[in-house]
Amino acid sequence: MELPKIVLLGPPGAGKGTQGGLIAEYFGIEHITTGGALRINRELETEQGTPGSFIDRGELVPDAIVNEIVEVEIGKVEGFVLDGYPRNKEQAEYLSTITEISNIMYLDVAEEELIKRLSGRRVCSECGENYHIEFHPPRLDGECDLCGNKLIQRSDDEAGTILNRLKVFSEHTKPVLEYYNNREGFVRIEGRNNPDDVWEDIRNILEMGDGK
Ligand code: AP5
Repeated sequence: MELPKIVLLGPPGAGKGTQGGLIAEYFGIEHITTGGALRINRELETEQGTPGSFIDRGELVPDAIVNEIVEVEIGKVEGFVLDGYPRNKEQAEYLSTITEISNIMYLDVAEEELIKRLSGRRVCSECGENYHIEFHPPRLDGECDLCGNKLIQRSDDEAGTILNRLKVFSEHTKPVLEYYNNREGFVRIEGRNNPDDVWEDIRNILEMGDGK
């Protein structure tokens, strides 16, 4: 059986990281997250500046950098879930030249809820595990359940940057939804439900195999 090649779209805080991890584990495929890869390489010097300088302003990192990351990572595996890419129409067009996508899933969540999720998110400074002070708190305050290290707030989860990320989503990533809208395998998922219910919807759709 061919492994799925999934694009997971959604605004900042929609749950792409949360659901992307579950999809990857359940279907035995790679979780490719451009945000994660860029944070690891945040100090990398490029002609346009470092990835970190764009991330901290909530702006998109230039296409050339991101496209290369994705092409290299996709080339290593048979099945994957792409989390955070494509983020503009140019990236979507580029992706279509390097692979064929089987499913495009759009996690839809209202802006008010996104702001709550992002401002309350905490991540482990060591292993990167995700928490939320209200919706998914750690067992011990400020400490990772998995490795015991300190939980921190992501540099781009500061109030002003959150608003800019949402604006960038509306301007640049919404056109990607239009690009995929009539494609076979495109599906909109109600992302405001609790993570278990969202996961059940995603799993059911992927197990049906046709994205309908
Ligand atoms: P990236 O890391 O991709 O960030 P993002 O898209 O802004 O998304 P987030 O990681 O903030 O949220 P998420 O949707 O993964 O939600 P999560 O599961 O964490 O990108 C960061 C930056 O990198 C960009 O701004 C840009 O600069 C750059 N970049 C990345 N890709 C790029 C590209 N292709 N091109 C150019 N630049 C790029 O959940 C959020 C919180 O909510 C968590 O606390 C979680 O516990 C909680 N939560 C999750 N699901 C639920 C639920 N159902 N109910 C309640 N709480 C929930």
